[in-house]
Amino acid sequence: MRSSCCGSTRRNVIITLQVGADKPLTAIGVLPNVMLYYKIFVKSNQLLQKGLCIVKHLYTGKTKDVYELENGNYMLKFKDDVTGENGVFDPGANTVGLVMEGAGRAGLRLTTFFFEKCKAANIPTHYIDADIENATMTVAPATVFGKGLEVICRYRAVGSFLRRYGLYAQEGRALDAFVEVTIKDDARQDPPISQSALEMLGVLSAGEYTALEKLTKQISQLVKDELGKMGIELYDIKLEFGRSKKDGQVILIDEISGGNMRAYKGGVYIEPLELEKLMLAAE
Ligand SMILES: Nc1ncnc2c1ncn2[C@@H]1O[C@H](COP(=O)(O)OP(=O)(O)O)[C@@H](O)[C@H]1O
Ligand SMILES: [Mg+2]
Repeated sequence: MRSSCCGSTRRNVIITLQVGADKPLTAIGVLPNVMLYYKIFVKSNQLLQKGLCIVKHLYTGKTKDVYELENGNYMLKFKDDVTGENGVFDPGANTVGLVMEGAGRAGLRLTTFFFEKCKAANIPTHYIDADIENATMTVAPATVFGKGLEVICRYRAVGSFLRRYGLYAQEGRALDAFVEVTIKDDARQDPPISQSALEMLGVLSAGEYTALEKLTKQISQLVKDELGKMGIELYDIKLEFGRSKKDGQVILIDEISGGNMRAYKGGVYIEPLELEKLMLAAE
């Protein structure tokens, strides 16, 4: 049985209730700054576990919302919003360009797949667990470098690389896992920044830059290999890192989904939702 009930516009309260045989019964109420999360796990009419948990809204991002759980961990809620411009998807864009039904869950599924692979390869990440049905991922909290950086690894000259260096690079030219860092600054169109500028401005230390570059190459190669198994080629990928709040270690944060990479099959670009389907078909 599956049912949905109780919608109220007063004070922006939304309650949804889902009942599935042997599945968690979850009620979620969303207030402007607080989300109430009530979970009752029932199996064969037996109550296994129930609990009310209050989560605090911290940040509304372009594609995800960030909440803080009672135990200090963070929860990322994946939305169906996708970055791009004028209805066309672009992983490099810093505006929400379109809404794709199911994009949130698809992004989370692929993210979970890659974070599990990272875990198996002993790569430090923020990942704890994922609830695909509710499109949420529980993660360890981290502080970002400065006001946030993005680290790009490039295998082919496309996107902003080509726009900047088109005088020297032909479209699609092979690049040897070229790593570059950009500042998350929507107003300035996420400008690239060099290692020495990052150190000079006190955004990160030389040691942190080395760790970040090494992890970027390692993670990008892992993703490239996984895509390669399905006959898909990775052109470029964008990652985020932070300092773990627990011990200050540089860890991979955020997500690894179709929304932050460019992937091609037989020279044809694969949309994020299609990529998720192709990659997880055998899962
Ligand atoms: N473990 C973490 N700790 C702290 N912040 C995180 C963590 N994982 C992701 N984030 C941040 O959460 C936000 C996720 O929402 P998103 O929609 O991707 O934001 P944005 O619009 O900034 O890209 C990002 O700003 C990202 O830096
Ligand atoms: Mg983002």
